[in-house]
Amino acid sequence: MSIDTSKSLLLAPGPVQLHPEVQKILSLPMIHHRTPEFDQILKSVLSDLKTLFVTNEKVFILTSTGSGGMESLLINVIKPKSKVLAIISGKFGERWAEMAEVFGAQVHKMVVPWGYAVNPAYVEKYLNENPDTEVVLTQACETSTATVHPIEQLSKVVAKTKALFLVDAITALGAMPLPMDAWQIDGLVAGSQKAIMLPTGLSLISFSQKAWEQIKTNPTPRYYFDVRRELAANEKGETFFSSNVTLIRALAFVLKDIKTQGLESLYKTIKRRADYTRNIAKHLHLEVYSKAPSDSVTALNLPSNFDGAKFREHLEKAYNLTVMGGQDQLKGKIIRLGHMGYITDQDLHQTTERLAAGLNDFGMTLDLQTVRDASLLWLKDN
Ligand SMILES: Cc1ncc(COP(=O)(O)O)c(C=O)c1O
Repeated sequence: MSIDTSKSLLLAPGPVQLHPEVQKILSLPMIHHRTPEFDQILKSVLSDLKTLFVTNEKVFILTSTGSGGMESLLINVIKPKSKVLAIISGKFGERWAEMAEVFGAQVHKMVVPWGYAVNPAYVEKYLNENPDTEVVLTQACETSTATVHPIEQLSKVVAKTKALFLVDAITALGAMPLPMDAWQIDGLVAGSQKAIMLPTGLSLISFSQKAWEQIKTNPTPRYYFDVRRELAANEKGETFFSSNVTLIRALAFVLKDIKTQGLESLYKTIKRRADYTRNIAKHLHLEVYSKAPSDSVTALNLPSNFDGAKFREHLEKAYNLTVMGGQDQLKGKIIRLGHMGYITDQDLHQTTERLAAGLNDFGMTLDLQTVRDASLLWLKDN
């Protein structure tokens, strides 16, 4: 059976495939960031970002990857020796805890087995027993295990305490509901190369009023990521440092597009891709790894006799398909398929065809026609 591999497919959990209009915007001639033309764009983007964060608070654009946004959330609110509870269920939880330690915080690590969501009752118990906790850190989606945490329930638990609830939503904001104000999230960070559907290079952050009380008096030295400087610049209609004109122009398009289709429709689109992948996994005889699977990315267990790194390399070379593998303890054991970005139904179908053929190349005996029919039927019916 012939398989069309002509289109290069990027189904990673970021960076993601770009909307054709975004690709055009990225190649527009450069303009200076201190011009009336850019001022207008920045103004509309800063306003539209509130819709994405579902907040009345100010949202800030940082020229950094998502990790810079995580650092910014942290250093604006923590002091050396601050008591921090870090929920760790994978690679990115580990990273945030490590960052907090680097800044001198006393970090209690609540380690959740990989692939599981944290139980809010454990967090509640810990906070009751440790009422001096000042900050709680979690991922909304732990990308390394493709797992979502119950952010709404966790927010309710943390909101009853004096602690600030900081959420790494780098692979979640724009992919699932995370209404910052309604859920009383105190700090939220998103990354441009994920559900924001842009290249890597921007992080977006926002703080609650509860967090701002802390920020205003926090003596921790900070400069590039000092949100007070960014706030002052934004109030003058500027960014504090040189604006990332190219990405902000593309962001303006994405935000208008999201506004037109509505957030609910965006979440539904991404969930449909996740549902498709979970359904097709059965036909590929692969199990979903996570016990609380996210809609942004799906992790599938590979057969135990597979060398995952070689399999991924084969998908790239033979089938022009990029998916991600596992990290650390999951290295070589899973593949992760991203559902964010610009993905057509044809991309989904072709991903399945290429994956099925690749699995057979590694010794599985899937009936490719049956898999193909199941894929087309699902896409027609859903
Ligand atoms: C949940 C999560 N946090 C943090 C990061 C780090 O983001 P960046 O690589 O943009 O610094 C990622 C990147 O994949 C992520 O998925």
